[in-house]
Amino acid sequence: MTSYAKKIKAAVLCGAMTVSGTSAMAEMEYQDVADLLHLVMSSDRTVYTRMIVNRLSVDEKVIKASEHFVDDKALVLPAQMFRFGAEMVAEETDAFSYSLLSLWPINKQNAPSTDLEQVGLEYLAENPGENYYGEEELGGVTYFTAFYPDISVAEACSSCHNEHKDSPRTDFKGGDVMGGVVIRIPMDG
Ligand code: HEC
Repeated sequence: MTSYAKKIKAAVLCGAMTVSGTSAMAEMEYQDVADLLHLVMSSDRTVYTRMIVNRLSVDEKVIKASEHFVDDKALVLPAQMFRFGAEMVAEETDAFSYSLLSLWPINKQNAPSTDLEQVGLEYLAENPGENYYGEEELGGVTYFTAFYPDISVAEACSSCHNEHKDSPRTDFKGGDVMGGVVIRIPMDG
């Protein structure tokens, strides 16, 4: 059994024993859900970047990736791929939402916009390899908000950002934390 499966099984057993669980238990479940959602998102993102964008644009030089992908008849950028998915999810459900943010955004709309987003992204940048979890109240709703490091997993990641005219940072290297995936789940009660 994977550690995720074990955690969920433990969470389910524990929840059953405490009759729907304490708030600490509930938080654990939010974290498990967010972790699993993130696992799918980050796997898809890495596959798209490595097997499509990096292979075809950096290694083989067959086709470019461009933010103006329609006009340029190019590949959709990894960040756009991610956002289009997030937008489709937002049309379907209010049960969670997600986005890709950074302290050094090319697109200023991807800068942190809540206090917790600022704290979470700074934590990811200062503690490579670690996630960050918190709660925040926005518009009268309390959210469980999870932050996961977005890492430069391919040459294409750092080189494109370093060379982009709107990038406030130009020294990204392979393996660097370039930003964070933020997953927000409204907490009930
Ligand atoms: C071909 C260029 C290109 C490649 C390759 C690329 N990016 Fe980006 N990235 C961009 C652009 C342009 C944006 C802004 C897109 C938008 O939101 O409109 C962006 C957005 C982002 C953001 C959100 C913050 C921001 O800068 O706006 C993060 C984080 C990010 N990219 C990380 C990565 C990582 C990690 C990879 C590799 C997995 C990657 N990028 C690959 C060009 C690129």
